[in-house]
Amino acid sequence: MKGAHIKATGISHTYRRGATKALDGIDLEIQPGEAIALIGRSGCGKSTLLHILSGLSQASEGTVYVDGALVTGPSPSRVMMFQAPSLYPWMTVEQNVAVGLKFNGRMREAKTRVPEMLELVELGSYAKRNVQDLSGGQQQRVALARSLVLNPQILFLDEPLSALDAFTRHALQRDIRRIAAEMGITLVLVTHDINEAVMMADRALVMKANPGRFSAEVAIPIEGDRAPSSHEFAIAKAALVEAYEGAAGLTMAETAAPDRLTSATDPAPARVRAIK
Ligand SMILES: Nc1ncnc2c1ncn2[C@@H]1O[C@H](COP(=O)(O)OP(=O)(O)OP(=O)(O)O)[C@@H](O)[C@H]1O
Ligand SMILES: [Mg+2]
Repeated sequence: MKGAHIKATGISHTYRRGATKALDGIDLEIQPGEAIALIGRSGCGKSTLLHILSGLSQASEGTVYVDGALVTGPSPSRVMMFQAPSLYPWMTVEQNVAVGLKFNGRMREAKTRVPEMLELVELGSYAKRNVQDLSGGQQQRVALARSLVLNPQILFLDEPLSALDAFTRHALQRDIRRIAAEMGITLVLVTHDINEAVMMADRALVMKANPGRFSAEVAIPIEGDRAPSSHEFAIAKAALVEAYEGAAGLTMAETAAPDRLTSATDPAPARVRAIK
């Protein structure tokens, strides 16, 4: 079996200085190798939930199990990527990628694993370069290689692509999904970008704020490569827009034309399930 199974039960969280509950009564199950997007407006608790699932922080209430084992702290088998790549500026690309191996006493693996991971993220010829000379997108690729080199079971992504231009971002969305599928990694992605969720996830969980909780689940059953111009993509996106609007209590300017998307000739529409 590839990738880890995650089960969270009754997760509630109140920050010490927080006025309200950041999360309230979250139940969640993620299958091995599945790609999940946690989506919702700013402040609805996405990062809080991600940190709790990864073991970086402890919930006020509730439990998280990964492959049946209670999560009590971080582990190298669960890696997190943040918005800033946080590379060491005085090290080369390959040294940055090897950092996790070094911290975990696994430097013996570096000689073969580091070049392999650099090839995977398409930076094979950049090994000796200084990371400061790389573009933002290339730096995120280095951060991705640094995460993957540990051979993680779960990759947690907290909007790591949001500072990138649209083209670079799209390429990385596609590559991360492909690499996670190839390596059998469970992917948990936080985003407030609907396109990103449809590009990368098998299933999106839409969150509501104050207190943070789930309001809907949208299945995104698109086989193979995902093209934003495809009909399947438009259908999944329309379903997610509707669920997102419902959770946020607003109407977005950019909604897909409903007539065209619900005609009788359409393939099965993306499934939406309300979560109470
Ligand atoms: N360290 C903290 N202390 C007190 N309150 C916090 C802390 N971190 C987050 N919060 C509050 O908890 C709630 C959820 O925050 P969180 O960062 O999880 O939201 P988010 O969905 O990730 O938002 P964004 O999309 O802006 O990153 C917010 O109301 C926030 O103000
Ligand atoms: Mg956040």
